[in-house]
Amino acid sequence: MFVGESGCADALSKYEALAASLPARQGLGITPYRKYDGFWYPEHLMAPTLAVRDTFAARPTDVILATMPKSGTTWLKAVVYAVVHRGRHAPAGGRHPLLASSPHDLVPFLHSFYESPRSAPPGPLLEDMPSPRLFAVHTPFTALPASVPGSGCRVVYLCRDPKDVFVSLRHFLDEIKPGGSDIPPFAEAFDQFCGGVSPFGPVWGHMAGYWEESVARPGEVMFLRYEHLKEDAVGTVRRLAEFLGCPFTDEEVASGVPEAVIALCSLDRMRSVQANQDGVHGTGRLSFKNTAFFRKGEVGDWKAHITTEMAQKLDGIVEEMLRGSGLSLAGK
Ligand code: A3P
Repeated sequence: MFVGESGCADALSKYEALAASLPARQGLGITPYRKYDGFWYPEHLMAPTLAVRDTFAARPTDVILATMPKSGTTWLKAVVYAVVHRGRHAPAGGRHPLLASSPHDLVPFLHSFYESPRSAPPGPLLEDMPSPRLFAVHTPFTALPASVPGSGCRVVYLCRDPKDVFVSLRHFLDEIKPGGSDIPPFAEAFDQFCGGVSPFGPVWGHMAGYWEESVARPGEVMFLRYEHLKEDAVGTVRRLAEFLGCPFTDEEVASGVPEAVIALCSLDRMRSVQANQDGVHGTGRLSFKNTAFFRKGEVGDWKAHITTEMAQKLDGIVEEMLRGSGLSLAGK
């Protein structure tokens, strides 16, 4: 249940105070991190994340997309939006909302509703949204809104090879840094990442949390891999639609609707959309052009940026930390 408008503002003040008391350190980019319950959060998202956790009321029809930053969030948002809304918006149609708006505007981050609760109280905004509501989070599973487990809403997690996540993150942070500022040197950033210090990291803890939940509650939490979405886009999108309770009909399959979803959401198509070229994400000092979300979109791009020794080091750490979780990224 939502607290009222002033309640939301109060809730944020409370969490701002808590956030300010948490351990802090320099991050991989220009934003400092705060540590909460074993995970590192970009400082500006700490209080909103905690406010979301305590006040967001999930509906059984909600869909929550969860990712580590740079795991393909933008792609997942586009795909899920296209799948869920295909009855109203034909994926092959030329007037699809994804051809006019950023996936980040169509599927907002939950924390974004809480970043300025005083000027735009999140409660009414969220309550007025028609079902099914689609949201995204970078939050670790343990910090998801308390109302999510047990609500019946669906959670879709997209996992990506941590080496590609690191390389993608590095490019992204370099791209979005404000003029005149510097991000830490590459080797230092890599060591931090291997030590578990990354936005919403450690990466292994983030993945394991959702993996274990997908095993325990497969009807409510789905664990996807970026690499599988690349390899078998149609098969993955069909499984996704089934999980979301809106499987493709035989007629849709025969007429190529899953393929149309994939084509609509492809990197090249998304990159060509005006809103993804000129639009801006975020606010104030932490705003940047939407173009930063679209780079190469390849599996294994890490090979062009980190040495075999570095790759072995990170793979070894991830494998070791995932031991016992039942999740293995080896060989993928
Ligand atoms: P690279 O930097 O490796 O190219 P996020 O959306 O979580 O910020 O992740 C960004 C990564 O996803 C970037 O990876 C980006 O190029 C890739 N990406 C964005 N849109 C994509 C799409 N439609 N298909 C495949 N990859 C996509």
